[in-house]
Amino acid sequence: LDAHEVEQVKATWKAVSHDEVEILAAVFKAHPDIQARFPHFARKDLDSIKDSSDFAVHAGRIVGFFGEYVALLGSEANQPAIKTLLHDLGTSHKARGIVASQFNEFRDSMTAYLKSHSSWNADISHSWDDAFDKAFSVIFESL
Ligand code: HEM
Repeated sequence: LDAHEVEQVKATWKAVSHDEVEILAAVFKAHPDIQARFPHFARKDLDSIKDSSDFAVHAGRIVGFFGEYVALLGSEANQPAIKTLLHDLGTSHKARGIVASQFNEFRDSMTAYLKSHSSWNADISHSWDDAFDKAFSVIFESL
């Protein structure tokens, strides 16, 4: 990612970083197969769990992961830390049997959320595509 892309990704993230619950709910709503993999939330009505503290904790961890990733972008010195972060995520999700197509579903829903909750254009879209491609190429090595 070049400096311009990093700047755009960081700016978008700043605009939505407090929307963890809404982002995870949007992912679950569009992809019930993802919700079904969460022991705490499987077979439960999304509207009934969305406002719970348990949901907030999970959303904070999962969506917060992107905050960690985005924060590390932009410095060559952080590349090893980024690699470790993503590799570990891939390993923990492989252990749960999560497959690449489900990560791609997650990505689609999250991108749709970003698009509708930030100022968005083709250039920003391209920056996020690169950021996701970069992250998922490492995660997928471990799946
Ligand atoms: C747990 C992030 C995609 C299922 C977690 C955790 C993080 C995380 C940070 C907690 C730490 C850990 O156990 O590794 C992400 C990110 C994703 C993603 C950033 C997308 C880029 C998915 C998908 C699924 C999934 C697609 C299911 C299809 C789970 C489950 C847990 C989990 C079942 C354990 C929840 C529990 O503690 O009960 N995820 N995840 N994740 N993730 Fe993901």
